[in-house]
Amino acid sequence: MSEEARPFIKWAGGKRQLLDELTKGFPKFENYHEPFLGGGALFFRLEAEGQIKKAYLNDSNPELINAYSVIKTDVFGLMAELASPSYANNPTAYYKIRASNPTSRIERAARFIYLNKTAFNGLYRVNSKGGFNVPFGKYSNPKILDSENLLHVHRALQKDELYCGDFTNSLKHAKKGDLVYFDPPYFPISKTSNFTSYTKASFSEKDQERLMRAVKALDSHGCYVLLSNSHSNFISDLYAEFEPEVVYASRAINCKGDKRGKIKELIVRNWEPQIAQRKLVEEIVASH
Ligand SMILES: C[S@@+](CC[C@H](N)C(=O)[O-])C[C@H]1O[C@@H](n2cnc3c(N)ncnc32)[C@H](O)[C@@H]1O
Repeated sequence: MSEEARPFIKWAGGKRQLLDELTKGFPKFENYHEPFLGGGALFFRLEAEGQIKKAYLNDSNPELINAYSVIKTDVFGLMAELASPSYANNPTAYYKIRASNPTSRIERAARFIYLNKTAFNGLYRVNSKGGFNVPFGKYSNPKILDSENLLHVHRALQKDELYCGDFTNSLKHAKKGDLVYFDPPYFPISKTSNFTSYTKASFSEKDQERLMRAVKALDSHGCYVLLSNSHSNFISDLYAEFEPEVVYASRAINCKGDKRGKIKELIVRNWEPQIAQRKLVEEIVASH
């Protein structure tokens, strides 16, 4: 029996594959911030390792944050809802729930988790009107109600704060010594790789630049900043001063959902020893 909270949904761009790279040479930090939370792979890893004192978690997807929030405050109501026979794994139940538009927080969270477990590829994709448009996934035995993990997640979230909105939302709480991990929608490396439909709005070049400015502001504020993004010249140039590291990740979900294999990604950190050293040299040179 697992004692630790694990991600309770599958999420496009999930970071399970990169966790070892991301946590390499990790600093000791105060509070944790994850402004593009998604499935929260890194958050749950750090939580399991007992590294999180308090976390500020944000995502712009309202259904996702509603699910986290219901697990935090109403986990038993959610478990009772998911246990109802209406959440069966068959096409009739699936298309009925997909077409529904519940207003109660608990029913919305149950619908979100159910669709995530039973939809094709576990993909949460919305069209330009915000509708969920993924077909039934035909999984033989998906764990629609995972009570044990929901209870672990419930416990883990008690000390944390949840926000729903733009990534800038939760940053006002970031203090010196805190760690901020940014995992934004990736900058598309080709015309066919632009999976950016987690929400109605997509993430543009202007947004990537806005994010780079936020990273630099947090860096000068004394925060530890970690960021993952696609291996592209645009992103390498934006973060050139942090000397991004190229890593290899296995990706199961992309826009076609059928291409699997190792692809190059970028990790940006502001605490690599060589960066600290270079800044010191620059300061010494500037003071002469
Ligand atoms: C690459 S995914 C994060 C994946 C996550 N690290 C994981 O392990 O599952 C990017 C997330 O950013 C969210 N997002 C998109 N635009 C955003 C914005 N402007 N501000 C905050 N979150 C945003 C999406 O809803 C999505 O969950």
